[in-house]
This record gives sequence, C-alpha cells and structure tokens, in this order.
Amino acid sequence: TRPGGRRLRQPIVVVLGHVDHGKTTLLDKIRRTAVAAKEAGGITQHIGASIVPAEVIEKVAEPLKKVIPVKLVIPGLLFIDTPGHELFSNLRRRGGSVADFAILVVDIMEGFKPQTYEALELLKERRVPFLIAANKIDRIPGWKPHPDAPFIETIRKQDPKVREILEQRVYEIVGKMYEAGLPAELFTRIKDFRKKIAIVPVSARTGEGIPELLAVLAGLTQTYLRDRLRYAEGPAKGVVLEVKEMQGFGTVVDAVIYEGVLKKEDIIVVGGREGPIVTRVRALLMPAPLQDIRSREARFVQVDRVYAAAGVRIAAPGLDDVIAGSPIYAAENEEQARRLMEAVQREIEELRFRTENIGVVVKADTLGTLEALVEALRRRGVPVRLADIGPVSRSDVLDAAVTRKIDPYLGVVLAFNVKVLPEAEEEAARAGVRIFRESVIYKLIEDYEEWVKSEKE
Ligand code: GTP
Ligand code: NA
Ligand code: MG
Repeated sequence: TRPGGRRLRQPIVVVLGHVDHGKTTLLDKIRRTAVAAKEAGGITQHIGASIVPAEVIEKVAEPLKKVIPVKLVIPGLLFIDTPGHELFSNLRRRGGSVADFAILVVDIMEGFKPQTYEALELLKERRVPFLIAANKIDRIPGWKPHPDAPFIETIRKQDPKVREILEQRVYEIVGKMYEAGLPAELFTRIKDFRKKIAIVPVSARTGEGIPELLAVLAGLTQTYLRDRLRYAEGPAKGVVLEVKEMQGFGTVVDAVIYEGVLKKEDIIVVGGREGPIVTRVRALLMPAPLQDIRSREARFVQVDRVYAAAGVRIAAPGLDDVIAGSPIYAAENEEQARRLMEAVQREIEELRFRTENIGVVVKADTLGTLEALVEALRRRGVPVRLADIGPVSRSDVLDAAVTRKIDPYLGVVLAFNVKVLPEAEEEAARAGVRIFRESVIYKLIEDYEEWVKSEKE
C-alpha cells in the first residue's frame, strides 16, 4: 500500500557476489532480523523481493544512535530476493539499472574471486552505487560471537590478534578495490561517502554487523539518491524479471515496478519476441501473508494496485512472447499506449541488432543477458555483427561463416543460455564455425578469449 505521506519510495537493493560468499544467508538474516523486530512492523513480502520498513531499520540500528544517527525519510528498503548475475542483468533500464543500490558480498576469508570481479564490472557498467559486505567475520580464527551486535561493539570485545586479522583482511579488499580503480575503506573511517566505497564487516550467520549494514544502506541511499527516489504518482514503469507459467493464469510475468502505480485493468505495454505487446492487466498477485498460507493454492493473493517500489506478478492475456529484461509500462489511454509501443520498440531494437560489419554473432536468452554480453564484448574491443534473443539457428551459423572467411577469430557464435538447433549444429560442423555456449557470462567471454589466444599461437 501507498506509504502514507512519504515523498520518497523504497530504494531497490540487490545482492551480488561470488558463489557461496553468503548472499542468500545474508538476505535470510536481514529478513529474520526484521521478523524478530516485528512489533515494529516486520517485513512485507513481494514477488521476488521483500521490504524492510523504516521502523524496523530504526529499531535494529537503535544501539548505533550516537554513532550513525538514522532519521529515516525513506519508507524502507526493497531487497531483491533472488540474487545472481543473470537476474541482475535483467534488472536493466535504459542506460542503467532498476537497482538503486547493491551489496557486493565478499567472503572476508577468501577475498575477491572471479564472480566478484564480474559483479564489479556489471556494477560499473550499469553505474549502480554499492557497498561491500565483508561477510563471515565469525570465521576469523578466535572470533567470539556476539549475536546481532553492531560491528563496532563486537570488534571491541575481540582479542587483539583477531582484530589484527580483520584489519589485514579489510586492507586486502581495499587493495583489490584500488587495483579496480575504486577507492574503498572500512566504513568507520570514511568521512565522505561520495568519495569512498564503504566496507561493512558482517556475519550473515551470527547477525553481527547487520545493524550497521542496514543503517549505512538506508543512510547512503536516502542521502545521495534522493532525486531518483522521489515518489511519482503517474502510471507504472517497471522491468520484467522473469516470464512463467502459472496454473489458472497461463503465462504471467514477474516484474519490479520502480515508478508510479500499477492497477488492475491498466493497459500495459511490454516487449515481446515479435514486437511490443499491448494488453490489459487481469490480475496483480502478491505472496499471501505467512499466516494465511493453508494450501499451495493460497500462496498468492490478488491486489487492486501496487505502488513503487514493488515486486509483483502480473497476469494478462497474450504474455507468452514476453522477453525477460524488457521494459513494462502502464498507459493511461490508447494514445499513450501507442507512443509507449514505439518507445519499447526503439529500446529493444537498440539491443537486438544486425550490422553490416564484421563481428561475432551473439545469441542470449533474455534482453538483460544480451545487453550485458554485448557491453562486455564492447569493453574488450570485440565487434558484434549480430545480437539477438533465441536459439542459435542455421542462419546465425551462416552469418558467422561469412565473417570467418574475412576474419577467422570473429567468425564464431557466442550462445548464452540458449539451445543450438540441430540444423545449426550441422551447418557449424560443415563450415567449421565454433559455437561457444555457457550459462555464466564471464565464462563465455573467457572461453572465447582463450580460444582466440590459442588459435593465434
Ligand atoms: P550461491 O547462491 O550459491 O552463489 O551462494 P550464496 O552466496 O548465496 O551463499 P550462501 O548464502 O548459500 O552461503 C554459502 C555457505 O556459506 C552456506 O553454507 C552458509 O551457511 C555459509 N555462510 C554464509 N554466510 C556465513 C557467515 O557469515 N558465516 C559463516 N560461518 N558461514 C556463512
Ligand atoms: Na550457495
Ligand atoms: Mg544463494
């Protein structure tokens, strides 16, 4: 429901990081912390997201009042629940991301790993501000846990040896960030948060440091992102995260609404494989409050409207062809719908393109992953001849074969999370065209680069 009288919406926060560094555990901990503070409001579950309201953040951060005074003007924080690079890629929005802020989770004992770098690259590319959660501090040898305590309190109670290890580990992260061209520092030592990226030591297991994590997130977003967060009354703007089948509703889309209000019966415009789709919202679905779940069918409740920021499932006729990562806009009338169709068409054409030039062929499963791949290739100076959604077809391979005659290193197909049709397979074998396939973006590019290197030797 509309946060009464608030002028700002909830910042949308995503969690990124290397596999097993603790993204899911951290979000679970934040959720449980919020549930435990439920006399102050608890949390609101959304589709693929949850809101931690301002009252909860204030309560959790209460012990820090003297150090980090948080007077909240945002109504809370919307955390996107299903983290992962592919999902992050789909949170796209022209020229950036729907995510207002990110938490880059780094296992303090392991430090930076390949997906940490990939996350950094994505955050830079989409210009998403972030902080680093240096996770698993409880694994520092000799650590004495103080469950749910602020970091500044628990660190004071640790042995000097433990404090020294923590300092060393933080110093190492600072070093890696410096190499990446991003100055970072332990949050307690930062004077100007616009100049340095905050490192907040936490334990997703014991909850230590969570008070600061929430306080810093809330403080930074409401201080520096105020314009972006200004609440707009108009029709909804959002992005499609996933396209699904749902019993009784057919094809539905899970979307994040970052502006305005979406109502049942609204006209919506969304990107499809064969062009923009215009339809009317039949139902807006949200997860049922926990106590109401008696059966599987009762897992969702219908609502009449949702206000940004929100994660919502949208049921409407004709959604079968929708592409994940595509914009979704509500229109006030047919005339506006026509204009929005053109805008959606233009935006998608910029991402799915064919040029006359020599370059690689890129096929991906969603608009978000396609964009991320093309951006990553551009950064590395690899030209792209064709970028599109869908399986690798024979014509894609023929395209690569033409290029191959002119530049053998560029006459390839890069396939991300898509099938290769049998005719394409046959044609590739005949023409000697390499098809690289992967379901991790950086791996796909790495495989291709390694192949180029070995071919050139
Ligand atoms: P993927 O989604 O697979 O990329 O992993 P993830 O980043 O979500 O990590 P996940 O939360 O699944 O945690 C991986 C393992 O680390 C699990 O066994 C967690 O229990 C453990 N873990 C996460 N955070 C902490 C922490 O703060 N301390 C300790 N000791 N273990 C942790
Ligand atoms: Na894991
Ligand atoms: Mg996980």
